[in-house]
Amino acid sequence: MIPTTLLTVQQHILEEQRRYHPEATGEFSWLLSGLTLAAKMVESRVRRAGLGDLLGSTGESNVQGETVQKLDVYANHALLWCLGKRGNVGVMASEENDSPIFVERDRHHGRYVVIFDPLDGSSNIDVNVSVGTIFSILRREPDPERKRDPLQDVLQPGVQQIAAGYVVYGSSCMLVYTTGNGVHGFTLDPDIGAFIISHENIRMPSAGSLYSVNEANANTFPEPYQRFLGALRSGQLGRSYSSRYIGSLVADFHRTLLKGGIFLYPPTRSYPQGKLRLMYEANPIAFLAEQAGGKATTGTRRILDIEPESLHQRTPLIVGGTEEMELLASYMR
Ligand code: AHG
Ligand code: MN
Ligand code: MN
Repeated sequence: MIPTTLLTVQQHILEEQRRYHPEATGEFSWLLSGLTLAAKMVESRVRRAGLGDLLGSTGESNVQGETVQKLDVYANHALLWCLGKRGNVGVMASEENDSPIFVERDRHHGRYVVIFDPLDGSSNIDVNVSVGTIFSILRREPDPERKRDPLQDVLQPGVQQIAAGYVVYGSSCMLVYTTGNGVHGFTLDPDIGAFIISHENIRMPSAGSLYSVNEANANTFPEPYQRFLGALRSGQLGRSYSSRYIGSLVADFHRTLLKGGIFLYPPTRSYPQGKLRLMYEANPIAFLAEQAGGKATTGTRRILDIEPESLHQRTPLIVGGTEEMELLASYMR
């Protein structure tokens, strides 16, 4: 018989819309199925990246000045194609594109903006370590007279997100998302090609025992971070901590979401503004963290309150359970 727990992400989002947004026309769930289609396309390539010509770099570099991996390009095209055909996305913006893209057919009435990091953790692809896709969804006012610059639609503060989530291509492929009513996780069942509910209403533990930071930069962190990390290491919170750093934000955050603790990418000498990008890394992760009972700041400011100035702007990102985040805040004061 069919197990009663078999709830797909499409069914889940429709139930959520019915319960919380009865006025919703199912448009959002249609948009989400564009994201899950792209996720399955990327997943199938990540699983066999070593076969065929998908490893390594394209030899080009992107607007970030970073080397573009072949899988970055594939993932970007998959998302642009799947979202561009949805009929209700008016503007898309990607880490891999210098500026936002109008969906020509729907630029007048497309009610959603989707911003994404198509392949997060690219440096890990060739060594078979978890990578991810991160997305952030904003509302867009119709623009029948084609007057508005798409950048105006995109540059909204994180509090304006109506949904956010990520796909982590790990030992299993999971989709984790929120529409503002908690955080829910779905695992791809490769036999039926559907994302099935596996982690309903994820809550981030308020106190953990892991911290996640690139220790190689530790000597160039602003001094309060160094004192904070010293406090964790010396058991100031009354327990010992272990260090875990994967180098893919999605994987490091996914672990922090489930196990608690704290992830930090503070300002460093090479990235004095922090390395992570506000619009398609920090904002969606911060929305998820807060929805699961955690916090996300720049070290001093709530990420979701930042008024963005440019599409690819960077920010420090510290995200974790309330106990660690409050201890850090006390060092930053
Ligand atoms: P991307 O692959 O999309 O450029 O993101 C990489 C980011 C993020 O995934 C990760 O947390 C961070 O880079 C790791 O940076 P370091 O290698 O400097 O620690
Ligand atoms: Mn990234
Ligand atoms: Mn990326």
